[in-house]
Amino acid sequence: MPGLTLPLMTGFALLGSSALGSPLSGFSPLNLFDALARDVSISSSCGVSGQTSCHNTSAVSNLCCFEAPGGLLLQTQFWDSEPSTGPTDSWTIHGLWPDNCDGTFTENCDPSRNQNDITSLLQDAGAGSTLDFMNEFWVDINGQNEQFWAHEWNTHGTCYSTLRPSCLPSGSADGTEAVAFFETVTLPTYTWLQNQGITPSSSKTFTLSELEDALQQEAGVKPALTCSGSNLNAISWYFNLKGSVIDGKFVAIDSPEASGCPSSGIKYPLKSGGGSSPTSTSSPPTNTGTPGSLPSKATIHAITSTGSTTGGLLSLGTWSTQTLATYTLSGTESSLTLTSSKGKCGVSSGKFACGSGVTSTTFEAVSSGGKLLLSSGGSTDFSSEGVPSGSTVFDVFTDSSHSQKYTLSIVGS
Ligand SMILES: *[C@@H]1O[C@H](CO)[C@@H](O)[C@H](O)[C@H]1NC(C)=O
Repeated sequence: MPGLTLPLMTGFALLGSSALGSPLSGFSPLNLFDALARDVSISSSCGVSGQTSCHNTSAVSNLCCFEAPGGLLLQTQFWDSEPSTGPTDSWTIHGLWPDNCDGTFTENCDPSRNQNDITSLLQDAGAGSTLDFMNEFWVDINGQNEQFWAHEWNTHGTCYSTLRPSCLPSGSADGTEAVAFFETVTLPTYTWLQNQGITPSSSKTFTLSELEDALQQEAGVKPALTCSGSNLNAISWYFNLKGSVIDGKFVAIDSPEASGCPSSGIKYPLKSGGGSSPTSTSSPPTNTGTPGSLPSKATIHAITSTGSTTGGLLSLGTWSTQTLATYTLSGTESSLTLTSSKGKCGVSSGKFACGSGVTSTTFEAVSSGGKLLLSSGGSTDFSSEGVPSGSTVFDVFTDSSHSQKYTLSIVGS
């Protein structure tokens, strides 16, 4: 397939408005994704005239052309300043996630379609320009790009109904739907803030409404910003979708979630080190959650008193060695709330649980020994009545009164 270049994507990411010039003057967030040049043309033949995901007034049966149940799409981006990741003048991509319309979500939907070599997959598909773009802008803070991309596809990408292999043109190579997923990326956040006079600074601070208003002015919709303490460090842009992820219309919407930042005194820190080398694997920081930064989505791992990691938390909040759940974290390190696909998480009578009937309580995140530990009521100690294995799981208690004691490490996903 022809390897066309992706001038628009790099343009969004790197250049200020003046440098962008006229080619993008018609740009609006309503065609945020349509505007992307893709180097492999994969077509769904769905068109974009069908109902909008999460806004349908009747049941839609062809889920190849209507994203369900994950019709609330979030494009998440990082501003990693310490350590710094990616170009100094661009946010970096985290992922494109299919939340259910009510904000709950599923993940790891089809392990049979997991990928572990995204680089070869994209190269073989002729998507070398997309790969180059990803190596610059979709980078892992530990330099482990390949694992990061595979995680994003396996965990989130396999959950898109419109990316099921049966939705692709017959004769498509295995993994073509993953290629389509990785081609759906964009990130104009830096440029949008810059257009509004907001650039990283070691001294300036901003109010939350200044930042939100600036982005709303540019994008026409309100994103959700996330801070680590007072440092701006992530953003989520929300969409509904008409048609297929492959070639549908992403309809930008206001974030259904409030930003997790203080109302004032927000820093937009300079990236310290300049663009990191994407292929570098030398001395990575220890934790994808980055000590000192609260990830917006994370798995929670149990570390026993011997220092070994033994499983972690499932979506109901129980301790298990099975595939861990992804938790959504909101707020700041000094006051955060947790949600799993089952619902809100909270502590009641000393027991941790998540679910639709659970009342949310606040937690803290504490950096310790290169890890970000979950803390409840000022203590990072948790305990259970036994150590899980196989299908045996244990309730998690927020004190050390049960026989097996451990801490819980938050690892960004
Ligand atoms: C929207 O479509 C989905 C998928 O067919 C269906 O589950 C849901 O009930 C529909 N919503 C309405 C309001 O009809």
